[in-house]
Amino acid sequence: MKNSLAKLQHRYVCQACGTVTTRWGGRCDACGEWNSIVEEIPREAAPGGLGKAGGNSGRRRAGRVEFVGLEGSTAREPRSPSGLAEFDRVCGGGLVPGSTVLIGGEPGVGKSTLLMQVAAALGDPGRAPGPPIAYISGEEAVEQLRLRAHRLGLGAARVELATATSVRDIVASLDTAEPPPAVVADSVQTLYVDTLESAPGTVSQVRASAQELIRLAKRRGFALLLVGHVTKDGQLAGPKVLEHMVDTVLTFEGERGHPFRILRASKNRYGPTDEIGVFEMGDDGLREVANPSALFLAERRGDVAGAAVFAGIEGTRPVLVEIQALASPSPLATPRRAVVGWDSARLAMVLAVLEARCGLVFTGKEVYLNVAGGLRIGEPAADLAVAAALISAVSGEPVPAGTVVFGEVGLSGEVRAVGRSEARLKEAAKLGFERAISPPRRGGASDRRDRGRKKAGNGDREAAAHPGLKIQEIAHLNDLIEILAPQAAGRMARRAARAAEAEFS
Ligand code: TYD
Ligand code: MG
Repeated sequence: MKNSLAKLQHRYVCQACGTVTTRWGGRCDACGEWNSIVEEIPREAAPGGLGKAGGNSGRRRAGRVEFVGLEGSTAREPRSPSGLAEFDRVCGGGLVPGSTVLIGGEPGVGKSTLLMQVAAALGDPGRAPGPPIAYISGEEAVEQLRLRAHRLGLGAARVELATATSVRDIVASLDTAEPPPAVVADSVQTLYVDTLESAPGTVSQVRASAQELIRLAKRRGFALLLVGHVTKDGQLAGPKVLEHMVDTVLTFEGERGHPFRILRASKNRYGPTDEIGVFEMGDDGLREVANPSALFLAERRGDVAGAAVFAGIEGTRPVLVEIQALASPSPLATPRRAVVGWDSARLAMVLAVLEARCGLVFTGKEVYLNVAGGLRIGEPAADLAVAAALISAVSGEPVPAGTVVFGEVGLSGEVRAVGRSEARLKEAAKLGFERAISPPRRGGASDRRDRGRKKAGNGDREAAAHPGLKIQEIAHLNDLIEILAPQAAGRMARRAARAAEAEFS
């Protein structure tokens, strides 16, 4: 035992990826990061954890694991909705007692504000009585926290504030028969366990501190909300190593200068992972945005070239958002292509398809693409809207006002069906849009694959489910060009044909 302890004395941990080595190096062999290896000395091994202080109950028999069959009934995990609908939706309906939620985000995005509002909602005086919610901060003084709560109009909520960073102290205070139903720890990078000598914020400290609190949360049955700061490259700093330990990972995103904040679940043991919650940061804190489409489209100007409204789906909700494109002449041999809010590889693909199949020319042009409002889109269904914005940008013709676009684009320029069309169309109709350009619906009468030689618009169809919305189903990108830039369509088609001919001769 003594020997193994002596061996433990020196270990070196990469602060970027958490790899443990026995000797120091300037560069981590595992992740390639420079200057990330730090010596960490465990002062004592702590196999039992810190949570045993004072407790004489709960000693378990050693040496046996009990197995149970799949049959038998387990009640669905009870949840406590906070009452903040956007937060609850992302969590999968509310907080599960005993579970841990990690909330990551860049400094200043509003994590502390969000959690103060969640804590206050959970500790609303109108709810069933019970112990108050605990809000532990290692970053702000109690006066600061109180001041913020008052400014947010949350002064009456049953929330107890504390400033603490020692996990031993925190565990000792919370390890009671009647713990708070929910505990906020802001942030995990400020916490430390005194069995490790490394500084707070190092991988070992973050991991050990979180482990202690998670264990306690499970044992005492409270919901634990951990805040984790994220480094600039988008990784949870250190907390990357926490992701497997917690039940739910939420990220809080927002563009600087935009009031919109998006809460996204990237892992959830108790719910879906594709939900988003939308908030707006104002002077009195975060306001829930029940209708994100209206928000994302609020600053839209209908008559500019290079903009198209995409009818997307985020989680279970349809969200309409504007996609903006700009193509300008470039003096560079390799013109710039920059994307905000979408995948740059997909932009490259859509550009290549427009050039090769439709005769649009982007050589010598810089291309910029932006998803308005700071939203990040992951759906291939945005292809067609991106194509519409690009066609409009190079032709100078604005996309007709009141039009939404969605559909996936294949490499031959064909427009492919996407899921949840009805929900997209319904949302567009609800927001007063008059026209939708969409893929042919599967199996529908207008499911034609005639490469756009037929006049665009033949697929027009008015559905009873969304009155007032004219739906134009198109099968190829050439149809889109015919709709958006009819006078340029012929020229482009001839160019594409010539290019195809040249290829074969
Ligand atoms: P904060 O919650 O402290 O961010 P984090 O904990 O993620 O670091 O939020 C800080 C920012 O939010 C700060 O720039 C000010 C802004 N803010 C508002 O605009 N309105 C408000 O009511 C509050 C509380 C903060
Ligand atoms: Mg904070």
